[in-house]
Amino acid sequence: MNYEKIFLDEIERCKKLAGGDEGVLTKIESKREHSLRVVAMGKKILTGKEEAWDRETALACLLLHDIGRFEQSLKNSLSDKQTGINHARLGADILEKMGLPEIVIEAVEQHNNPHYTGKNIYAHLVREADQLVIMSEWKSQIAWRKDGPISDYARENWEKGEVIDWRNCNDLLKDWVLMVWSWVRKFRYQETKNLFGEMGMEEKFRAVLGEEVI
Ligand SMILES: [Fe+2]
Ligand SMILES: [Fe+2]
Repeated sequence: MNYEKIFLDEIERCKKLAGGDEGVLTKIESKREHSLRVVAMGKKILTGKEEAWDRETALACLLLHDIGRFEQSLKNSLSDKQTGINHARLGADILEKMGLPEIVIEAVEQHNNPHYTGKNIYAHLVREADQLVIMSEWKSQIAWRKDGPISDYARENWEKGEVIDWRNCNDLLKDWVLMVWSWVRKFRYQETKNLFGEMGMEEKFRAVLGEEVI
């Protein structure tokens, strides 16, 4: 199956439906670029020997993980909450209709599930590559988030050593930073941990959170 064609065709389909709306087209383009960054990051994680990776399956999952974002963009928002669209579920539905392998569909569906503990190594791969890329998109990610104190939900989960679930957070900057930092606790692959270390993120996290979090 030609995964690249599926990716490009879906982008073309949604661009046509955008009818020249610049806001929508910009969102589609940003997610196209994001997907390619996740492929590049995933390739680095794949150099680790912790799993017997099937490279073609891995690249398909990485490239297609946000395929639901293109149709979501037509609502002129990339927020699952605002659009009422679970982009991971939508992506899985699109790929299911196309007859993609179950392992790919599952990796796409689970890629943003903070509680995923299943056996699908590609779901873990995509999650970790996506998380590192989201961290690397730091500037655009923090730009629009609101000031305010850390919520009780985020603080309690942080202190318990849990991963903070984005579905329980609002648009507060500090909650988001704490959530992103909490992902590190569940990194499964050594290569992900190495890449995270090289990114120098902890300094940025601390700069936002100040003295509130040790
Ligand atoms: Fe996503
Ligand atoms: Fe993503």
